[in-house]
Amino acid sequence: MANPSGGHRGDPSQPHKVRLKGVQQTLLITLYAKALDSRSKRPILGDKKADEMVRAIDYDFAGVHRPGNGNAIVVRAKQIDEWVKEFLRANPSAVVLNLGCGLDSRVSRVSPPPDVSWFDLDFPGVIEERKNFFSNRDGYQMLESSVTDPAWLESAPRGRPALVVAEGLFEYLTEDEVRLILNRVTDRFPRGQVVFDVMNSSAISSGRSTLKEKMDAEHRWAVDDVRAVDALDARLRRVSSPSIFTSGYMPPGYRLAFGVASVVPRFRGMIRLLRYEFG
Ligand SMILES: C[S@@+](CC[C@H](N)C(=O)[O-])C[C@H]1O[C@@H](n2cnc3c(N)ncnc32)[C@H](O)[C@@H]1O
Repeated sequence: MANPSGGHRGDPSQPHKVRLKGVQQTLLITLYAKALDSRSKRPILGDKKADEMVRAIDYDFAGVHRPGNGNAIVVRAKQIDEWVKEFLRANPSAVVLNLGCGLDSRVSRVSPPPDVSWFDLDFPGVIEERKNFFSNRDGYQMLESSVTDPAWLESAPRGRPALVVAEGLFEYLTEDEVRLILNRVTDRFPRGQVVFDVMNSSAISSGRSTLKEKMDAEHRWAVDDVRAVDALDARLRRVSSPSIFTSGYMPPGYRLAFGVASVVPRFRGMIRLLRYEFG
């Protein structure tokens, strides 16, 4: 798949308003964090397409930006990109399902091998906006659906190893919804990995009012003990569960400060990345 990100359907020099509702608007937080990173002197992710999209969208991004939050968002994306690349090196004809994709351009950053079938899924309103910047093509398809609707899985070919990514998504669902999604994935594919982030109760309460006020969105699933996630699907084996704050991708100054704060387990567990395998 040479260039899965297609051209801009509108005119990039003419910023347009987005029509996103509730939780859909949260994609603007992660998009802006990636754009700011790409403008910095030493980018972690270097996602220029994120900046292109921010410049094309008429929105008060500064109003939703919380300094300090940005690094965690970008480090999370970087670590997931590396895990995706590693999985695709070992499984060059895998199926990738990027759930709650928002306007993330992972498919462009990773540039998957030609035999990979990559699906980016989000609500119809988000995919409509996404189509201003990305186009379906061989090996790349956008799916319009709530992730809680089981029908979307029918679009993914069976019998191949699968990598399921849910970045900044599962916090917005209930534990029961997450369990059902995990169970459906391990039922459908013979083997693969599932990668997602979780937030603990402290992280969720610290951002609650801003999220509600600015976006009418709510984090519903808090994970204070990773073993509770292990118990959601007996076929999943946890491979790793690093804290974002002690990640090697965190800029050194922040890593030092966060490293000190991470002595406190509640801080260390605020945002974790979880990587599971099955089959
Ligand atoms: C914080 S954004 C993250 C976007 C993207 N993964 C990223 O990291 O930039 C959360 C995304 O999850 C999507 N989302 C939330 N609940 C969803 C659901 N039930 N079905 C599909 N997408 C959902 C939102 O529309 C939004 O695009």
